[in-house]
Amino acid sequence: MRIYLDHNATTPVRDEVVDAMLDVLRHHHGNPSSTHAEGSAARRLLEQAREQVAQLLGAAPDEVIFTGSATESNNTVLAMAVSEGRGQHVVTTTVEHPSVEEPLAVLSRAGEVEVTRVPVDADGRVDPESVRAALRDDTAVVSILLANNETGVVQDVAAIAAVAAERDVPLHVDATQAVGKIPIDVNALGARWLVGSAHKFNGPKGAGFLVARGAPVHPYLHGGPQEKRRRGGTENLAGIVGLGAACALAEAELDARTEHVRALRDRLWEGIRKSVPDVVRNGDPEHVLPNSLNVAFEDTAGEILLEVLDGEGVAVSAGAACHSGSIDPSHVLTAMGRTPEQARGCLRFSVGPGNTADEIERVVAMLPELVARVRAVPR
Ligand SMILES: Cc1ncc(COP(=O)(O)O)c(C=O)c1O
Repeated sequence: MRIYLDHNATTPVRDEVVDAMLDVLRHHHGNPSSTHAEGSAARRLLEQAREQVAQLLGAAPDEVIFTGSATESNNTVLAMAVSEGRGQHVVTTTVEHPSVEEPLAVLSRAGEVEVTRVPVDADGRVDPESVRAALRDDTAVVSILLANNETGVVQDVAAIAAVAAERDVPLHVDATQAVGKIPIDVNALGARWLVGSAHKFNGPKGAGFLVARGAPVHPYLHGGPQEKRRRGGTENLAGIVGLGAACALAEAELDARTEHVRALRDRLWEGIRKSVPDVVRNGDPEHVLPNSLNVAFEDTAGEILLEVLDGEGVAVSAGAACHSGSIDPSHVLTAMGRTPEQARGCLRFSVGPGNTADEIERVVAMLPELVARVRAVPR
């Protein structure tokens, strides 16, 4: 049996979610925009899912807009924020996900935005004071991720929201890694826009959402009147129902899941620290998702260790990506002060509710020998 420790990349879909989706695919082919009985049945399912998402996040149902992914939601927010006329300046950080980084790069190349990226400290945290220092009269939005996908480091978003609010600047929070893993209350966070994606918490791929508060949303996808003209395109009803079911499960199980994954993650780190020489944990251990562990294995080719682990039946991810033979170190780890060589030796272990203590013991037992083997290969 393989051991899947890559839940920050994506998660297995829960049986209850599959059942809810299959029911839609088999029995509810109606278009939610149609006014006949089939359409009304589909509309009811759509609205039930909206309530489930809203409930998990402390939002009002009408504030939830369904999208195709967190990537689409992030693109929507950034395009909208800079077109609202407040200004062309965006404040973000050096550790954002590409679904924020890339749209900003495109807007920047087109001359439509000027971006200030505030740094993080060696533990991956943003100082709210550096956000304050970056704000300008023409700042259109502050965009920050709640929890980092690579390190799991959780930012003090409420403090950053307070700083932004002093200058009346709206806050965009990419909460994709945090939803279903830690409690989220959109009010307490002070976010104007909050983004998530079902496949990160046992829902299906291709079902994202945007919570938008207090101001009209301009569609990114122009088309029909769906989502109250805030996102054109016939809704992916099965995916959305799956998203709603995943939210309901997350709400019911959040405390138990947290306790379970934290115990496994802590045991994994304890085991690695005691049995593998020259390892360092990346990221603030106090402010981190309960399931995430990012480890620097010194003098180790992480991409090879990943392959070796994969061969042994263990799925993790690495701090560097291989592109046409060259190594591209993680921008998140280099932003935290790691050298490209150190970033190359980093692996991300992300635990899920379905993992067991036995699986963690097997990984702990195999790692010392595998790391020694990879370290012995001349580079
Ligand atoms: C922090 C963060 N934001 C956005 C995304 C993009 O999510 P999606 O796959 O739904 O586009 C991811 C997925 O890796 C993520 O980790």
